[in-house]
Amino acid sequence: MKKMKVCKAVFPAAGLGTRFLPATKAQPKEMLPLVDKPIIQYGVEEAMASGCNQILIITGRGKQAIEDHFDVSYELERMLEERGKTDLLNIVRSISDMIYVAYVRQKEALGLGHAVLMAREMVGHEAFAVLLADDVIDAKVPCLKQMVEVFNEKQCSVLATQVVEGEMISSYGVLDVKPVDSRFGDRLFEIKNMIEKPKLEEAPSNLAIIGRYILTPGIFDALAETPTGAGGELQLTDGMRLLLQKEKMYAYVYEGRRHDTGDKLGFLKATVEFALKREDLGEPFREYLKGLKL
Ligand code: UTP
Repeated sequence: MKKMKVCKAVFPAAGLGTRFLPATKAQPKEMLPLVDKPIIQYGVEEAMASGCNQILIITGRGKQAIEDHFDVSYELERMLEERGKTDLLNIVRSISDMIYVAYVRQKEALGLGHAVLMAREMVGHEAFAVLLADDVIDAKVPCLKQMVEVFNEKQCSVLATQVVEGEMISSYGVLDVKPVDSRFGDRLFEIKNMIEKPKLEEAPSNLAIIGRYILTPGIFDALAETPTGAGGELQLTDGMRLLLQKEKMYAYVYEGRRHDTGDKLGFLKATVEFALKREDLGEPFREYLKGLKL
């Protein structure tokens, strides 16, 4: 059988971003900048660096700014050209030149599973990646690329996972797993079951599902059969649990550092860390922070 490849990356971005109100009242949280780049651009760059050449963004009302960001901005380009601001012009152009981006609207925010189901037509019978933009992952090898390596070998769905200790596990989908023998060592597990947001005592492990998934097209049938779950939303975890009854699925403990930028504190921490790493800002920003004498 011909081996499947992962060429398409889906970004569900139709959520309401309530944790970040009032900033997200009139602008998408995906456009909040980490230093000077909207968080969704970090994800799109990761997908491209992992071999995806088609990006599909699931949007909703009030998300126009995302489309404008990846589109050509003639007025801005002309102005920068006239003023001889070549560096800025190159940055602005590189975004619209970046890649083929398509958009599908999710008319109502009926859940992450529902948002992924919106991708069915565009994805077709291929394996595909799902990236949640507010999980920004800083890694030597892009997180999705690490997962693509596993997928290329196993040809099964692969979920990125990370160890989360204590009460915080209840904010995640949690995995029940068994070890597998593979060249990925103790980073790879076969998934036995998964539960969305369990109580600490009921969590089957400390392995949390984070915002990176490679899914086989079987997920679409599974989601279509999945009843509405917690909060009246169609939960991706519920759909994946159905898929698990039909196919093997793997969990991969990625190497890297994840920032939950959909959360205010997580966003602040990411901003500080990314600013400190910048060649142009790192030094003066470090000096400034030292001067705060906390
Ligand atoms: P979140 O759980 O982070 O929800 O969604 P949210 O609405 O974005 O933010 P809060 O919790 O209210 O602050 C996880 C991902 O799923 C997408 C979101 O855009 C986010 O990327 N999503 C969620 C949809 O695309 N559609 C939905 O109906 C729900």
